[in-house]
Amino acid sequence: MAVEEGKSCCVVLVPSPFQGHITPMLQLASLLHAKGFSIVINHSELNPPDSSKHPEFTFFPLKDGLSNNDPSFLNLFDIIPEMNVNCRVPFRDYLVQMMEKPEIYGQISCIIYDHLMYFTTEVAVHLKLPTILLRASSCAYMEAVCAFFSLKAENYFPLPESQLLDPVPKVPILRFKDLPCDLISEIPEPKLQLFEKVVNLGFSVAIIFNTIENLENHALSWLQKHYRVPIFTIGPLHKIASSQTSLVEEDTSCISWLNTQAPNSVLYVSIGSIVVMDKNEFIETAWGLFNSNQSFLWVVRPSSIEHDLPDGYLEAVGDRGRIVKWAPQKEVLAHPAVGGFWSHCGWNSTLESILEGVPMICRPCFGDQKVNARYLTHVWKIGLEIGPDDLTRCVIESTIRKLMVEEEGKELRQRVLDMKQKLQMSFLDGGSSHNSLKSLTEFISSRVCQY
Ligand code: UDX
Repeated sequence: MAVEEGKSCCVVLVPSPFQGHITPMLQLASLLHAKGFSIVINHSELNPPDSSKHPEFTFFPLKDGLSNNDPSFLNLFDIIPEMNVNCRVPFRDYLVQMMEKPEIYGQISCIIYDHLMYFTTEVAVHLKLPTILLRASSCAYMEAVCAFFSLKAENYFPLPESQLLDPVPKVPILRFKDLPCDLISEIPEPKLQLFEKVVNLGFSVAIIFNTIENLENHALSWLQKHYRVPIFTIGPLHKIASSQTSLVEEDTSCISWLNTQAPNSVLYVSIGSIVVMDKNEFIETAWGLFNSNQSFLWVVRPSSIEHDLPDGYLEAVGDRGRIVKWAPQKEVLAHPAVGGFWSHCGWNSTLESILEGVPMICRPCFGDQKVNARYLTHVWKIGLEIGPDDLTRCVIESTIRKLMVEEEGKELRQRVLDMKQKLQMSFLDGGSSHNSLKSLTEFISSRVCQY
């Protein structure tokens, strides 16, 4: 690699190997490249981004010792610590090589890393390089994890089951059960350590969120007081940056089917790239969708299920439904035929749905998803909640009908359309995300390392 003409400053980015995390990192990379930085992506060998889609970036794989495993079948709490141990030395060696030859690589301005790749800050501090944390989730989630640790320090946990529905004292919009841990039993140490990494900034000099100031005012000001480093809210990245980020081939045939459907008539169903449905939930969801009598487009990743569809199911559904392994989700949500989104409430999916004005059915599973779902249903009021105990075909059918054809669904749709109108100002000239990107660019430029 040689320094790109006109680009003498380089930003090194370190994504973690999950679709929901790689996506915002690549989107941010495109924005910074357009602002004049050359871009190096240090990624794990596990689930690598497709370098052929980004000839403008330099990709360098880090030996993580995990490359032969399928991430969807692995326990995150095992692989993340292992990856952080294994990547440290190759990352350090690569940075040293870059720093020894600035005439080839350019000067490293800073390193932007995903919080799951926390080895980054430890390496960077030894080399006197500044790091910035990119969070793939919302401000509200980070606030919730901070609240969890401060309550833990006050010996709140384990919690009696009877208190799970009580409001969390420091963030009363959330119930204890919305916090990211199983609070009624002793929380295992590896899980705790990982959550600690979520709130620990290490030596980072700033935080970037893929969010919009107006969407998360309250949590954002709380984090600003708590962390006392600059926080840049640059979202929704998918609307600001045009970048090909999918790790899986998209089945675009569903778009021609959507073209034949009436406006707002199709429910889009997808649980992101990691969540797995157990057999019971899968079968009940299948029959709930069928019995609702609504049209649907369902993403069923082979790694997300433990059971086949019931015999004769596809024939019974006929042209009323389409099932694909991976959809072009942003295009699907932007399609006029799509009137609702059944989602696990990953942060990318949440932002993509809001910015297309699509109301949601919220079926969160783990991590930040329960916090996002609570905001969708009780703060922004643009989603219907469906909890783990409601997963029977009857409740699923009635929830779908409520969203797609009943008065309540119409109200949610109107509210999310209003929200979309307001939020899309943020990424226009002079909007908050637009300004925040400008400030980030100046911040990075002012931090070029003198080594
Ligand atoms: C993970 C976490 O689970 C999530 O909670 C966290 O906020 C980010 O990291 P994931 O579960 O994959 O992500 O969910 P999400 O954040 O919604 O990201 C999924 C991405 O995959 C979205 O950008 C979505 O557009 C894309 N996608 C999903 C497709 O392009 N096609 C599909 O068929 C399904």
